[in-house]
Amino acid sequence: MYKIAVIPGDGVGPEIIIEGLKILKAVAKKENIKFEFINYDFGGNRYLKTGEVLPDSALEEMKKMDAIYLGSVGHPDVKPGILEKGLLLKLRFGLDQYINLRPVKLYPGVETPVKDKGPEDIDFVVVRENTSGLYKGEGEIKDKGTEDEVATQVMRYTRREVDRCLRYAFEYAKKRNKDKKVTLCGKTNVLTNVYDLWERAFNEMGEKKYPDIKKDYAHVDAICMWMVKNPEWFDVIVTGNMFGDIITDLGAMVQGGMGIAAGGNINPEGVSMFEPIHGSAPKYTGKNVICPLATIAACGMMLEILGEEKGAQLVEGAIIKALETGKIKSLGAGKMGLSTSEVGDLVASFV
Ligand code: IPM
Ligand code: MN
Repeated sequence: MYKIAVIPGDGVGPEIIIEGLKILKAVAKKENIKFEFINYDFGGNRYLKTGEVLPDSALEEMKKMDAIYLGSVGHPDVKPGILEKGLLLKLRFGLDQYINLRPVKLYPGVETPVKDKGPEDIDFVVVRENTSGLYKGEGEIKDKGTEDEVATQVMRYTRREVDRCLRYAFEYAKKRNKDKKVTLCGKTNVLTNVYDLWERAFNEMGEKKYPDIKKDYAHVDAICMWMVKNPEWFDVIVTGNMFGDIITDLGAMVQGGMGIAAGGNINPEGVSMFEPIHGSAPKYTGKNVICPLATIAACGMMLEILGEEKGAQLVEGAIIKALETGKIKSLGAGKMGLSTSEVGDLVASFV
């Protein structure tokens, strides 16, 4: 029996999570997997009512779960930063989910804005460091509001933080059925401290522990160019938190849009959390027009991490078959030709 915390969150979160759970329940029935779902109403509405974002007691409860399934976070009436830091980042940090795994995979039948590229060209994963670097929030504002104001935001990495992220990326490349290649995405020409550490750690670990994995390096700006120009070059890309955040939005576009891009916040030794990488899209809330495929793909990732390989394959297979019907006209909000729940039903019918 797996205990899954479900946090639908804000905006379109609840309506897409319902579809994800629909698929998860279909898989559970077919594969005879038992789930217990525990619902939590954290998010903007609860914060506006009670002033509470994520109490420490809830974080402790999360530690007893097998996984967390998250919709989306962000509310138009809540100042930016409060929910992101107080809920999403607090969960990532508090549960030490030090990997953010974001597959960039173009499924057949999905349109990519990248000209002349198809599913055989666009299939890589980004391993984003997820609990440190610029996101740690180190820094300050001095003399705020004066002409002498100074703001700092520190990008700090320890060797240990870098090593555990690199190890995950190399191991992932080893078991992935592709080119057995890891590309480090950095900025060694300017960030000569932090990415020097990353590069040395990458080369040392690569040479000593993973001699059979190809090692490659590119600056983050060049990666942005090549992700569009030659996406087929990539197998596993590993990078720090901030660059990973940025390049995975680009990755989402390359794979056909936010409607399909999923991510896992992973603690390989603890509790992981799965989510679509898009935001709460407030203007589409309650309209039943947003694409649920990213959220559904996220539950596939969850099954994989739980060790339910067959269940994970079922989810991916069902997504592919649903797309192959041609009934989903586009993955854009309001452009699917079907409603959110109809897309969920369609995918569920192929489980
Ligand atoms: C993401 C999001 C978050 C991030 C925000 C909402 C804090 O953009 O998951 O990529 O920056 O990590
Ligand atoms: Mn982001």
